[in-house]
Amino acid sequence: MDFSFTEEQQMVRQAARDFAQNELLPGVIERDEKQEFPARQVRQMGELGFMGMMVSPEYGGSGLDTLSYVLVMEELSKVDASASVIVSVNNSLVCWGLEAYGTEEQKKKYLPALAAGEKIGAFCLSEPEAGSDATSQKTTAREVGDHYILNGTKNWITNGSSADIYLVIAQTYPEKGHKGINALIVEKGMDGFEIGPKEQKMGIRGSDTHSLIFNDVKVPKENRIGADGFGFKFAMKTLSGGRIGIAAQALGIAAGAYELSLKYSRERKAFGTEIANHQAIAFKLADMHTQIEAARMLVYRAAIDKDTGKDYDLSSAMAKLYASQVAMDTAVEAVQIHGGNGYVKEYHVERMMRDAKITQIYEGTSEIQKIVISRSILRD
Ligand code: CAA
Repeated sequence: MDFSFTEEQQMVRQAARDFAQNELLPGVIERDEKQEFPARQVRQMGELGFMGMMVSPEYGGSGLDTLSYVLVMEELSKVDASASVIVSVNNSLVCWGLEAYGTEEQKKKYLPALAAGEKIGAFCLSEPEAGSDATSQKTTAREVGDHYILNGTKNWITNGSSADIYLVIAQTYPEKGHKGINALIVEKGMDGFEIGPKEQKMGIRGSDTHSLIFNDVKVPKENRIGADGFGFKFAMKTLSGGRIGIAAQALGIAAGAYELSLKYSRERKAFGTEIANHQAIAFKLADMHTQIEAARMLVYRAAIDKDTGKDYDLSSAMAKLYASQVAMDTAVEAVQIHGGNGYVKEYHVERMMRDAKITQIYEGTSEIQKIVISRSILRD
C-alpha cells in the first residue's frame, strides 16, 4: 500500500491543519460548553472546499479523492470533532449519496449549494426503534399520485436544525421489508416537517443533534433517490463510505490527544524530571503511537480502496471499528497522563475523551462493524 501523498494531498492537509489551528481552536472549549454550532467556521470551510470535497467540479465541488478527504477529516478532528462531524455527514452521507445515486436534476439542484457550504445536509435513517436494526423502519412514505406522504419520527440526527436538505429513509411497502424502503430528499420548511428539541449530549456538543417529526409531509416523487425500493441499499452503500469519514474522525481525535500528551509529558515535571522520563508515561506514549499508526493504515487503506474502485464495505468497517477503539483508549490515557489537569477543560483532553465515545456509536456501533466484518470473512 503506497501512502506517499501527492503535492495536492499535502497542500490540502496543510490547509486543514492551518484552519484547525487558526479558526477552530480559538473558542472550541466555549462552543463545547454552550453547545454552540460553529456556523462561521462551516461557512469558511465551504469557501475552502471542505464541504464538498469529493463532489465533481461540474456540480461545484472540489473534485478531490477520498484520501484527501480523510486527511482533512484527521486534521480537523485533532482539534474539533464537532466541526468535523458536520463536514463528514455533509461530504460522505449527503453529497456522495446524491452524486452517486441522484438524478441529473437532483445533482444540479442540490449539490452546488451543499458543496459550497451555503446549505447543509443531514442523513436521516435512525428511529426510536430502528438504530442498529436499520431495516425496521417505521417512518412511512405512502405513494399518493405524484407525491409521497411522509409520516414518522427520526432520532439523533446530526445537523438536525442547521441543515437545509434532509435525506430521509422511509418505508413505502411494509410487506416487502427492506426492499420496500425509499430514500427521499426533504427540504426544510416543507409543510408538516418539524424539528424536535436539541439533544443534550456528552460529546461533540458543538454539532446540533435533533429528532425530526414528519406529519403528512408532501414530498414530490421526483425527490426519490434511485429506483423504487432502493432506499435501504442506498443507506447501506452510503454508510460504508460514511464509516471511512468517521474512522478518520476517530483517528484525528486519537492523534490530537496523543500530540497534547507528548507535549505535556515533555514539559510537566514530577519527582525531579519531566514526566516523559518516567517509564510509566513513556510506555503509555509508545502504546498510543503504535496504535495510532495501525489505525492510520486501516483508515488510509479504506480510502484507497474506495478511490481505486475496490469494494470497501469490509475495509471501512475494520477502519471504523479499530480507529474508534484507539480514539477511546488514547483519549482515556491522555487524561491519565495529564493527571488533575486532564480533568479540567482548558487542557482539551477531557473533551476529546467525551468526543471519542460517539465514534463507537454513530454510523453503526462497534458491534455493527463486527457484524459487517464477520459476515464478510465468513462469506469469502
Ligand atoms: N451495500 C449494498 N447493499 C447492502 C449493504 C451494503 N454495504 N449492506 C447490506 N446490503 C443489502 C443486503 O445485500 C440485503 O439485500 P438483499 O436482500 O437484496 O441481498 C439488504 O441490504 C439487507 O441486508 P442484511 O440482510 O444484511 O440486513 P440486516 O438487517 O441483517 O442488517 C446491518 C444489516 C449491517 C446490521 C445494517 O442494518 C446496519 O448497518 N445497521 C446499522 C445502521 C447504522 O449504521 N446507522 C447509523 C445511522 S446514520 C448516522 O449515524 C449518521 C450521523 O448522523 C452521524
